[in-house]
Amino acid sequence: MSTVDWTDDAVWEPTRRPVTTAMCLPPALYADPNAFEVERDRVFGRAWVCVGTAAEVAEPGRLLVREIAGRSILITRDTDGGLHAMINACRHRGTELAEADCAVAGTIRCPYHRWTYALDGRLRSTPLFDQVPRTDEPGDLDLVPVRVTTWGPLLLACLDPDTPPFETWIGDLDERMAGYRLDTWTPCHEQALDIHANWKLVTENFQEYYHLGWVHPELAKVSRVADHYRYQGPGMYCGQTTTPVSGDERDDWLRLPAADGLDPSDSVSGRFIALFPNVILSVLPNHIWLMRLDPIAPGLTRETCTMLTPAPIERDAHIDTRDFWLSVNAEDIDIVERAQRGLTRGAVPPGPLSPRFEEPLNRFHRMLADCMTLDSLADLPIPAGDDPNDPDARWGAAENPTPPTIDIAR
Ligand code: FES
Ligand SMILES: [Fe+2]
Repeated sequence: MSTVDWTDDAVWEPTRRPVTTAMCLPPALYADPNAFEVERDRVFGRAWVCVGTAAEVAEPGRLLVREIAGRSILITRDTDGGLHAMINACRHRGTELAEADCAVAGTIRCPYHRWTYALDGRLRSTPLFDQVPRTDEPGDLDLVPVRVTTWGPLLLACLDPDTPPFETWIGDLDERMAGYRLDTWTPCHEQALDIHANWKLVTENFQEYYHLGWVHPELAKVSRVADHYRYQGPGMYCGQTTTPVSGDERDDWLRLPAADGLDPSDSVSGRFIALFPNVILSVLPNHIWLMRLDPIAPGLTRETCTMLTPAPIERDAHIDTRDFWLSVNAEDIDIVERAQRGLTRGAVPPGPLSPRFEEPLNRFHRMLADCMTLDSLADLPIPAGDDPNDPDARWGAAENPTPPTIDIAR
């Protein structure tokens, strides 16, 4: 275990340099149990973290049990449509209230002494507890609330009350993606995969298309390197777009019917968003491939993949597109597991980032640095959007510019 103080600004100096001189993260951040623990508390314990899909709480009647940063939370929707999250521990003697997702009919019951709570966490009854006059006020013994929200297909929660509200966290993404009406899309497939790599490697790999031609020769036919641009405004996210998605050599991304009413740019593009810290979202005109990352150990990540379509589809109509994603994802998993092995067993000093292809990684690393070093996220600086006039912003910062031709055989 390392003795590095990961909350010390000095550790992050090479990370915070401009992208032209910045370095990748130290290898220990991917493999060291101490780094993993600090990250769990300072990043996942304070960020807006994705814990599931909005579809899971679309109707009252489900009680979800999710874990963030080692803490268990309950998520419910009440009969008035209100969404609630609470710490999964009884206010009597602290017992875990629910072990796993289940159906719930209006009341959360503690199995120990049967205290009961409403779906919004209010204490309702305390059986046989009336012998002694109580001095607590109404509300004092309600379940401890946690902030929760949905955005498009995402269900998100935040353990730390000091963290800025989700509207601030997401920045301009709500407006940027408004044309897709993402909260109306329907899941058609879900599966979880265990990846033997640190969670950051999975999102970093998604954020750059430098590897596209070599790791994904087939994907590069529908998402050509030369058609990639940055897609980043203010907000806690990194983004890129493929405009247009190609359909001449392969049409795997274009087979399903597209959403109604998309504007000329949305209707031909793929939007690839890494919402900090644990969401990877690919939005095409006709389907979404969403991946949620749950760090299990420094070198182990659970990836939950959900595919959605803009309207319900016929059974199995999504299979070709899903299988294409699964094969691309398998290529990514192979390479990030290999990266993990090199970072763990090789642990050589970190190298530089490609300003053209890897600027989003630098943006992501700075968000990580801020979360790790700040004592309160109330002071969190939200990254600004790309400035097309900044010479250091380089290619892809303007709206769909034409980057120089690339010879990927070099
Ligand atoms: S611990 Fe829950 S009712 Fe006693
Ligand atoms: Fe990839």
